[in-house]
Amino acid sequence: MKVLVIGSGGREHVLAWKIKQSPLVKELYCAPGNGGISEIAQCVDISADDIPELVRFAKEKQIDLTVIGPEAPLVDGIVDEFERKKLKVFGPSREAAQLEGSKIFAKEFMYEWNIPTANFEKFSIIEEAKEYLRQVTFPVVVKADGLAAGKGVIICQDFIEAEKAIDEIMAQRIFKDAGQQVVIEECLEGEEVSILAISDGENYCLLDSSQDHKRIFDDDVGPNTGGMGAYSPAPILTEKLYKTIENRIIEPVIRGMQRNGMPFKGVLYAGLMITFDGPMVLEFNVRFGDPETQAILPRMKSDIVELMMASCEGRISEIELEWDKQSCVCVVMSSGGYPGEYEKGKEISGLKDAEAIEDTVIFHAGTKKEENRIVTSGGRVLGVTSLGGGIEKAIELAYQAVDKINFERCFFRRDIGAKAYKWISNRSQVTR
Ligand code: AMP
Ligand code: GLY
Repeated sequence: MKVLVIGSGGREHVLAWKIKQSPLVKELYCAPGNGGISEIAQCVDISADDIPELVRFAKEKQIDLTVIGPEAPLVDGIVDEFERKKLKVFGPSREAAQLEGSKIFAKEFMYEWNIPTANFEKFSIIEEAKEYLRQVTFPVVVKADGLAAGKGVIICQDFIEAEKAIDEIMAQRIFKDAGQQVVIEECLEGEEVSILAISDGENYCLLDSSQDHKRIFDDDVGPNTGGMGAYSPAPILTEKLYKTIENRIIEPVIRGMQRNGMPFKGVLYAGLMITFDGPMVLEFNVRFGDPETQAILPRMKSDIVELMMASCEGRISEIELEWDKQSCVCVVMSSGGYPGEYEKGKEISGLKDAEAIEDTVIFHAGTKKEENRIVTSGGRVLGVTSLGGGIEKAIELAYQAVDKINFERCFFRRDIGAKAYKWISNRSQVTR
C-alpha cells in the first residue's frame, strides 16, 4: 500500500512511525512533514491546508490511504474532497468535523443527546454577552466558537477579565472569524483526561487513556499551550470510570451523529474533566491529540493501518486492539518564549545520544533539516518519548534523554507524569 500522512507536527511523526511498522505499507509519504519525518517518509512540499494540491498529489501517486493529522483541513472538508475523487481517507466529513469546528454545534449536540457537559449560553452580540456576565458566578470560561489553533478558550476569574475576553474575541477579532460568536460556560473543576475512540460511523473502539499537560509551567501554572507532555495510560481512570465515559459520552456521540445524518468516521477525541459529579466533556476534537498520540501509539501492539482501513470501510466491529502494559511518557521540548513569541533556526544537538537510551524515540514537531543539521522551526520542537515497565521508569528514561538534547533557549517541564503518582499510590491495582 501507499500511505500519505498530512501534517507537520509531533503527532504526524508518531503516526508516520507507527504506520511505517505495518507490513501492509510499501511506500510512505508525508505532506509537508518535518526534519524527523523526512528520515522515515518521503516528504512532499504541499501545505496541509492546500486541499486541491493534496488531492492532485494523491491521485497522481495512486495513494491507497490518506491520514489527516490537523483539524483545519478536516473542518474545511478535505475528507469530502478526497472521497469525491474516490480516494480512501481516514477522518470525518466536513459536517461531522463541526464537533471541533464549532463549539456551539458541539454544545447543542451534547444538550440534544444528554451528554454531560458544563452549562452554557451562546452569543453573537457583544452587549448581550456582557449583559449576561451580570448574572453568572465566577470564574467563567469564554470560548470563541470557531477554530483558534487551541488558543480560543479564556478562563476568567472576574467580570473585568470576562469583559476583556469578550472584547478581544468579538470586537478585536484576535481569532478572526472564529470570534463571530462566543460560548460562555460554567468553569469545571477536577482533573483532565483524554479519551480517543476510532469510529466507522456506526461502531467504535476505544484507545487506551492518556493525560496531557496543557500549561507551560510545572504544577500546571502559566498560560495554556498545545500540550507540554503526556503519559499513557492515565491511572485516574479505573475500569468503572472508563465504562461510564464509554456509556455516557462516546457511545451517545457516535449514535447521535449517526441518527442526525452525519455519521462520525475517524478519531473522536473527548477532552474530559473528571469532576466530583463524574466525567464531563470540555471539548471534542476530531483528530488525534498532540502530544497524547506520542504517548499512546508506542503502547499499541495492533496494526494501525488495519484499524484505519477498518474505519474507512465500516469494519470497526472486527477490530480488537492489543496494548503493551508498559507506561509511556512524552516530554515536549519547546522554544524559549512559547506559547508567546519565540525564535527559530537554533541548531539541535544530542539527538543521537538521546535516541540511544533504551526504549526511547524522539518525535520531531517544529524541526527542519538544513544540510546535515536539524534546526528548530516551531514552538513545540521535540517530543521525547520513553516506554518503561512502570511510570517511574518511563519518566526516568524520558528525562535522561531530554538531558542529552540541547538548543539555545530550549524549555521543558520537569514534572511530566508526576500527576500519575498520586493515583497509583492511592490504588494498588490499576487496570487501564
Ligand atoms: P478547549 O480548547 O475547549 O480544549 O479548552 C482548552 C482548555 O481549557 C481545556 O483543556 C481546559 O483546561 C480548559 N477548559 C475548557 N473548558 C473548560 C471549562 N468549562 N471549565 C474549566 N476548564 C475548561
Ligand atoms: N493536546 C491537546 C490537543 O491535541 O488538542
